[in-house]
Amino acid sequence: MASLGVNIDHIANVRQARRGMEPDPVSYALLAELGGADGITVHLREDRRHIQDRDVKLLRSLVRTRLNLEMAATEEMAAIALEIRPDMVTLVPEKRQEVTTEGGLDVAGQRDALQSLVERLQAAQIGVSMFVDADPLQLEACRAMGARWVELHTGSYAEASWAQQPRELARLCEASFMARSLGLRVNAGHGLTYQNVEPIAAIEGIEELNIGHTIVARALAVGLEQAVRQMKALVQNPRTEPLFGSATP
Ligand code: PXP
Repeated sequence: MASLGVNIDHIANVRQARRGMEPDPVSYALLAELGGADGITVHLREDRRHIQDRDVKLLRSLVRTRLNLEMAATEEMAAIALEIRPDMVTLVPEKRQEVTTEGGLDVAGQRDALQSLVERLQAAQIGVSMFVDADPLQLEACRAMGARWVELHTGSYAEASWAQQPRELARLCEASFMARSLGLRVNAGHGLTYQNVEPIAAIEGIEELNIGHTIVARALAVGLEQAVRQMKALVQNPRTEPLFGSATP
């Protein structure tokens, strides 16, 4: 059964719209835990557009579940992670102009640059996960680098048309199987919603789903604690009959 990491970046987005004090993502992280979050995920971006350094420090001391810090593979971020010591770092690609993370990290293409960073984080007992596309080349590169976790990018699945979704789902199932055969542990996330999460939650071997936008959106209507509870119920007990029609008409 997969666990649920709740990404609270979008709460910080609302605060940063006024550069003020509220809503405070740290307080909401605690409400997410009350709703059943198994972990709290934040992305400290280089441009600090939503989560701030102060948030990560406070979360480190207040989060009672697990703190997963998403970050670019830079020396600045490595220094912050080594000081704050989250339970896990997820390395993500980062571009200044993007609205949200686009595509997975090219681990195969930047092995030399990533290797020492991964080793230093792991030597400090911080779990390292690599956010990658469901691509065998990338999974092999993660294994070769000695990473213990991957987070499979579910964006292509989430954005696929109704007809294409079964194919994207199959790619994620195969990637989960391959990653585990390589000895990697598997998380997944990006673009998941209350409507599309169940087939992903049912994939064998996926240990944690990281979900943010849809939960924060629903929280506007029902409150964060309840929104997390509703997502957790789907993640823990997904329907296993096909949600999609046949791919062939
Ligand atoms: N996982 C990673 C690596 C991400 O970058 C994000 C978005 O910040 C998420 C999961 C959560 O995506 P969403 O907000 O679309 O649920």
